[in-house]
Amino acid sequence: MNALPEHKTSAHLTPSKAAMVPFVSVENMMRLVHHIGMQDTLKGIAAYIEDDFKRWESFDKTPRLGSHTEDGVMELMPTSDGLDYGFKYVNCHPKNIKSGLQTVVGFGLLANVDTGYPVLLTEMTLLTALRTAATSAVMAKMLAPKGARVMAMIGNGAQSEFQAVALQAIVGIEEVRLFDIDPAATEKAARNLAGTGLKVTCCTSAQDAIQGAHIITTCTADKQNATVLSDNMVGAGVHINAIGGDCPGKTELAEAILHRANIFVEYPPQTRIEGEIQQLAEDHPVTELWQVMTGQAQGRTSQDQITLFDSVGFAIEDFSALRFIRDQIVGSDFFEALDLLADPDDPRDLFGMVKRCHP
Ligand SMILES: NC(=O)c1ccc[n+]([C@@H]2O[C@H](COP(=O)([O-])OP(=O)(O)OC[C@H]3O[C@@H](n4cnc5c(N)ncnc54)[C@H](O)[C@@H]3O)[C@@H](O)[C@H]2O)c1
Repeated sequence: MNALPEHKTSAHLTPSKAAMVPFVSVENMMRLVHHIGMQDTLKGIAAYIEDDFKRWESFDKTPRLGSHTEDGVMELMPTSDGLDYGFKYVNCHPKNIKSGLQTVVGFGLLANVDTGYPVLLTEMTLLTALRTAATSAVMAKMLAPKGARVMAMIGNGAQSEFQAVALQAIVGIEEVRLFDIDPAATEKAARNLAGTGLKVTCCTSAQDAIQGAHIITTCTADKQNATVLSDNMVGAGVHINAIGGDCPGKTELAEAILHRANIFVEYPPQTRIEGEIQQLAEDHPVTELWQVMTGQAQGRTSQDQITLFDSVGFAIEDFSALRFIRDQIVGSDFFEALDLLADPDDPRDLFGMVKRCHP
């Protein structure tokens, strides 16, 4: 009789090592962020994002696959660099907050390309907020006017404090000016940001919030072509991170602003469908961020320019975040082993494994 491979087990009810996949729950993600520190977590993810943008050409890329309904969207976001494969499931349902649910939830998986076996399953509601903020900060560091110290944060929901702290940690922002149509959201954000070292100013309008701001971040949730910023509100010499317009028919900026701005995007085939630029002609010039990072395209060329990061969120940012978490949990107790993969003693005897399993 052939000896069983070392990782197998003959006890039918006990999962073998090969069956187990590291799983990071929401609780463990929160423990991990506390262990590393919020700012260092954001910096760590940002470094992985920069690394991956710099090797953009080695990735499989496709616009995400969305299933749209009247109230929201559910999306799958896959990519691979030939060594690892990752995907995220994520939704956006702006009406959810009225019933006490999150607008955005997610989870994701990283797998080994060699065997196709998953190596990490993780919550990605928190991780999406962290990676979206880290991405904004990476792009703002590259594109914002020199000496940017004040940011406006319009939309003070789930993502907002992460955005502010990432820009503090990575760009050196010292003051954040908050505005939300719901003052309770602004109060919540101000409370959460107390003690971060940021000067926090609560504003009563978007116009008020952007006074003196060098970086304007819009991160609202509304399933329509909204005008969070109108043309007359935006002066020269600012950088805009437009985060909330990320779906067909869901934008935040007046079209006229786009005509005055130099527009930077993650992956044009996805952004043309989902970003602010869905309002423009299909051939309107945009610059790909990875090309600025690799020196193949110019970023900001003058202090007077309006630069716009038309953020929609791309799969490679999630892949970077997944890699970061995989590397952080090695040898730690920030995960549990999940019995996720069927692993019969004889790989071809899947049926027999079920048959022999008596409760
Ligand atoms: N680009 C990306 O990578 C990315 C990633 C995650 C989330 N998002 C998007 O970011 C947005 C915000 O997500 P969230 O989880 O913080 O949502 P959320 O529902 O928790 O918060 C959204 C906030 O926007 C406010 N708001 C709505 N319209 C406004 C307006 N006109 N002016 C000011 N405030 C307004 C709401 O009152 C709410 O507080 C969503 O649209 C989501 O799809 C984008």
